[in-house]
Amino acid sequence: MTTPLRTQVAIVGAGPAGLLLSHLLAGAGIDSIVVDQRSREEIETTIRAGILEQGTVDLLAEIPGSRVHSVGTRHDGIELRFDGHGHRIDFPGLVGRSVWLYPQHEALKDLIAARLAAGQDLRFGITIDEVLDADSSRPGVVGVDATGAPVEIEADFVVGADGSRSNVRVAVTGSHTGGYFREYPFAWFGILCEAAPSADELIYSNSPDGFALISQRSKTVQRMYFQCDPEADPDALSDSEIWDTLKRRVPGTTLTEGPIIKRDVLRFRSFVAHELRRGRVAIVGDAAHTVPPTGAKGMNLAVADVILLARALDSLLNHGDESLIDGWADRARQRIWKAQHFSWWMTSMLHTVPEATEFDRLRQLGELRSVVESEAGRTYLAEAYTGWPLASAG
Ligand code: DHB
Repeated sequence: MTTPLRTQVAIVGAGPAGLLLSHLLAGAGIDSIVVDQRSREEIETTIRAGILEQGTVDLLAEIPGSRVHSVGTRHDGIELRFDGHGHRIDFPGLVGRSVWLYPQHEALKDLIAARLAAGQDLRFGITIDEVLDADSSRPGVVGVDATGAPVEIEADFVVGADGSRSNVRVAVTGSHTGGYFREYPFAWFGILCEAAPSADELIYSNSPDGFALISQRSKTVQRMYFQCDPEADPDALSDSEIWDTLKRRVPGTTLTEGPIIKRDVLRFRSFVAHELRRGRVAIVGDAAHTVPPTGAKGMNLAVADVILLARALDSLLNHGDESLIDGWADRARQRIWKAQHFSWWMTSMLHTVPEATEFDRLRQLGELRSVVESEAGRTYLAEAYTGWPLASAG
């Protein structure tokens, strides 16, 4: 038997949700232990999305040493491209906010460095298998470290920020799946290439051949995606087939080509767990919900969950007030379903389904036109893309 570790909040998962929660809790004088199955190197090098809402950026910028403003780039709009033409959505002009392109793994490097510098107990290579006593006032987690030695943490509250394959979710919903769920008949083929940017802003392109997204990473490395079969093998296409597909899908734009240095297939789905909390255990971020990537809501939604949760835990653990934690799941769910809708809407408006008829295709163009030709339509997109206010978090 090992002696259990003790803390106020046991956080499973050192992704954006878990690390940011530990930061916010520390600001409220609440101790936490953060554990993650992955190594620090894996967390800091896994390529994820890159678009941060204004509210997420404002929060990250307050973290000591954050490079979000120096390495990240502000984007004041996106282009929606269809039927051979590009249409710019001007974010500041419509809603007075912008987004920032700052790759998630760069934000994670900042967060890990800042938490360690602040003395955070942060442990890598620890797999949590099970939550104990979720309904008691002393829940805990058990698992093993990288050598196979048992680990146990006793806490006042347990938070599962352990991603879409969450083990903590089982304690909350009763199963690994337990949630509202939708699959899509397509995935994204993603590449990183060494080239100059093809455009200053992101291009979301609907073409008869399928969707493509031209994104960026830096002056010398670019990220691009195109719709593909979910079973596609990332190594089955040659570089020139990839470039031909991208060029066909973004007609009217000249793409700057360069060596492809990484390729991957991102399968996607929509998911919201039936329950987000049971007793003194809550799930946040991808453990609680996943969205399709179109519109880049994933990390931003995780941040919104933990801002609300940090406030609720402050009330509970510092003041013995249960009202915020009792209302937390309902409050978080309001934003989660708005983001679910937005991500589904952007996805369905921009992608081609395999069985699409001519009616479906022309209706989709009508939908795109009604968004870009109306200030109300553009404003709806800009509000959602740049992020609904976090203060109300609803
Ligand atoms: C990126 C990913 C997205 O899902 C998106 O909507 C925009 C950008 C990216 O990885 O750059």
